[in-house]
Amino acid sequence: MPKRHRIQFPPSNSEQLGQDEVFFTLMEDGEEKRLRFHDYEEIYQRPGLYEQLFYERLRCNSPEKVADLLQRALNTARESVTELRVIDLGAGNGMMGEVLKRDGVARLVGADIIPEARDAAYRDRSTVYDDYYVHDFASPDPDVLDEIREWRFNCLTCVAALGFGDIPPRAFFNAVKLVQTDGWLAFNIKETFLDPSENTGFSRLVRELIFSKYLDIYHLELYRHRLSMEGTQLFYYALVGRLTASIPEDFLEQHGIQD
Ligand SMILES: C[S@@+](CC[C@H](N)C(=O)[O-])C[C@H]1O[C@@H](n2cnc3c(N)ncnc32)[C@H](O)[C@@H]1O
Repeated sequence: MPKRHRIQFPPSNSEQLGQDEVFFTLMEDGEEKRLRFHDYEEIYQRPGLYEQLFYERLRCNSPEKVADLLQRALNTARESVTELRVIDLGAGNGMMGEVLKRDGVARLVGADIIPEARDAAYRDRSTVYDDYYVHDFASPDPDVLDEIREWRFNCLTCVAALGFGDIPPRAFFNAVKLVQTDGWLAFNIKETFLDPSENTGFSRLVRELIFSKYLDIYHLELYRHRLSMEGTQLFYYALVGRLTASIPEDFLEQHGIQD
């Protein structure tokens, strides 16, 4: 049994804070420690805390939802999940990886920007990933990219990690470029990212991709990603698409998309 943590939510007002500013208090060894939801380094170092917070208390079900839509897209294309060679970007401690591994993918490689994520994945889900890169895909090392390409990915997954001070457009784009033509993209995004009035680089990149000739959309579904701290429902889109052609290297520049 993983250790249970004593978590205390603040009395009120979390609704006024941005998703990356929301904080909670962790009671530990007789002391109170205030942590933000995006303090992943601190959270991953404590076995079971991430799961207890986001998956138990806030009822996140995004790995299952995105994996389910990916499976349905594969059914439509009459392809088998067992042939997927997946890069799981923003893999964290392996929640999405666990679902993909259970579903039987051929290869599964995690990627994240912080070493604490890889350490936690290897500690808590030691059999899930074939390999795990701690790397900044926004400014990747060409030698590392060459090494990563040897996995010949035909699928990219990215769950609960795009936008919001997490993965920026350039990093996501560079990871998408690691996927072969005909390969799959399966990810989720905040509901407002598809709103034309939202002008962040990331939401524009997703909209440009959706309407481009480089991606066929198989599923785009609005669903409940998780609860907020106040118990309100946070809706995200889950998207599964298939790359139809190689996206030009200067796609971001062509569309004036910056980080
Ligand atoms: C909310 S967690 C999601 C983890 C996992 N995918 C899940 O569904 O539970 C977001 C993850 O994105 C990672 N992340 C943030 N910025 C990143 C970047 N630029 N490149 C790669 N990973 C990043 C964080 O370190 C964190 O592990």
